[in-house]
Amino acid sequence: MKFFVDSAVVDDIKQAKALGLADGVTTNPTLIRKSGRDFREAITEISGLVQGPVLAEPVSETVEGILKEGRELAGWAPNVYVKIPLTRAGLEAVQIFRKEGIRSALTLIFNAAQALLAAKAGASIICPFVGRLDDIASPGMALIREIVDLYSNYPDIETEVIVASVRNANHVVEAAACGADGVTIPSKVIEQMMKHPLTDSGIRQFLADWNKVQ
Ligand code: E4P
Repeated sequence: MKFFVDSAVVDDIKQAKALGLADGVTTNPTLIRKSGRDFREAITEISGLVQGPVLAEPVSETVEGILKEGRELAGWAPNVYVKIPLTRAGLEAVQIFRKEGIRSALTLIFNAAQALLAAKAGASIICPFVGRLDDIASPGMALIREIVDLYSNYPDIETEVIVASVRNANHVVEAAACGADGVTIPSKVIEQMMKHPLTDSGIRQFLADWNKVQ
């Protein structure tokens, strides 16, 4: 299973990399704003830190605009994937990018129909958003299970399902149980995954006992 870092903060990516958890990086305009960095500088630096895909998102909503911005983004580093919201224009752009050898990811995916269109268009990656679905009382992980099942009917589909909008450790475990290709995780969720109170109390107990025999 692939672990992407859901952040545009270089320190987050370095820390995840040290743990072997930086198979790729996802960004979006909100994450770029939060990083406080210039878009190009941030993406270029991040692309040099990881070998896998670094997803960067254009903000244009027309085919021509997405193509223009996306070609520029793809020129920043060989591992930049153009991350495009699933719209009519996005689907058209993905197909043109594919012919040009530019890899793309379709994002803001909230139902299985969108996932099918994304695969048919030839997106390298889809990012279905589980947390935002959970927020509106629609089970996000049910969507992941449905997409993974549908894609498995067609072995020629190469589109990878990278679960996004991950809010807690359980989302990661459930994504793995569904057989998703990967997850993209904010650093606070990586912290959560490492923590267990019995691990902490166990260490304290071992140390206390060890000190008694010194
Ligand atoms: C990554 O591809 C997504 O943009 C990100 O996971 C969205 O997360 P959010 O719903 O917590 O903003």
